[in-house]
Amino acid sequence: MVRMPNPFVVTGKIAPEYFCDRAAESARLLKSVTNGNNLVIISPRRMGKTGLIRFCCDKPEISREYYTFFIDILHTSSLREFTYLLGKEIYETLLPRSRKMARAFLQTLRSLSGKFGFDPLSNLPVFSLELGDIERPEYTLDEIFRYLAGADKPCIVAVDEFQQVAKYPEKNIEALLRTHIQRQDNSRFIFAGSERHMMQEMFLSAARPFYHSADIMELKAIPLEVYVPFVVGHFGKRGRRVDGALVERVYTLFRGHTYYIQRAFNAAFADTPEGGDCTEEIVQGAIDGMVVSNDVIFREILSNIPEKQKELLYAIAREGEAGGITSADFIRRHSLASASSVQSAAKKLLDKDLITEDGKVYSVTDKLFGMWIKTVLL
Ligand SMILES: Nc1ncnc2c1ncn2[C@@H]1O[C@H](COP(=O)(O)OP(=O)(O)OP(=O)(O)O)[C@@H](O)[C@H]1O
Ligand SMILES: [Mg+2]
Repeated sequence: MVRMPNPFVVTGKIAPEYFCDRAAESARLLKSVTNGNNLVIISPRRMGKTGLIRFCCDKPEISREYYTFFIDILHTSSLREFTYLLGKEIYETLLPRSRKMARAFLQTLRSLSGKFGFDPLSNLPVFSLELGDIERPEYTLDEIFRYLAGADKPCIVAVDEFQQVAKYPEKNIEALLRTHIQRQDNSRFIFAGSERHMMQEMFLSAARPFYHSADIMELKAIPLEVYVPFVVGHFGKRGRRVDGALVERVYTLFRGHTYYIQRAFNAAFADTPEGGDCTEEIVQGAIDGMVVSNDVIFREILSNIPEKQKELLYAIAREGEAGGITSADFIRRHSLASASSVQSAAKKLLDKDLITEDGKVYSVTDKLFGMWIKTVLL
């Protein structure tokens, strides 16, 4: 018997039948890139940027017509690393399609000639460089972009966590990249990022090289009206029942945060026997499990927050939605120091995106973190 996968996917690739919605966003992405524009996708972490990009790139109208290259640069801290990753991704994408092209790509990287190793079995070159082998990243990058310009199909280059380039120590990296990207007739770019402030600065501030160089899309939560039938339907298809009202409660608890709702129903599905009902207890057990399994991460985050900010964070977590945080009442209720210290702590927490403000009402941005603070610490 073939073992059916859990329909609520939380790691790796999502097969189209388990991919929920994003119809409007996919249409917009496809429209942008197929009409020669670049696109910026901004959303909080784990809302579904990468999933959306991969979902679109697998659609036949893209996969047949374009080469798609995808790099996540979150862990990079220099142009050299960026160049390394992009080169490696291009090579590894081309190799299974055509050895000839992969070889041709390496040959255009003259600045690296002689640096590649060979796989002893297949006798193919392997992209096994040391970072230090890229001595002049700006030359190598130029060669990479030349290759893209001459490729036999148009290319889509998706760069995840793009805001990272603004943190590279080298000067004028944004300007350098912008110049290359602007010259490309053959390639479209998708820039995704989760640091909203930084991404907006990069693309909306007139002083920055990427100013107005791409369409901007903010990826929000999947709508409740779409998510509830998605969950109920997948339970139903596999001979299990779940009440729509219960799905709605979980959705609301996490404000529709894609990863958390998917995690909750992944675990709840696993714990619901075939032919059975997904009960409130099962769902609660799933959520409790999530709170506990993030313990280490959350403690680590707290260890980096100064005390004054932590006090305010706890106060906000305790209230869930906190209004009037500089009022005498709020300050007294939570034994805080003063309105001015609350104000400066709030600013710092907002900058770090640990709290979110919506019309002067504050809440902990990461709902699971907020829940964890409440259940474990308070
Ligand atoms: N449309 C969708 N349908 C079902 N599951 C989804 C969908 N979009 C995302 N997910 C799930 O949500 C989680 C987060 O998605 P993804 O990694 O795409 O987010 P992200 O915004 O790229 O996150 P990060 O900020 O970490 O890069 C993944 O576990 C993924 O399986
Ligand atoms: Mg991502």
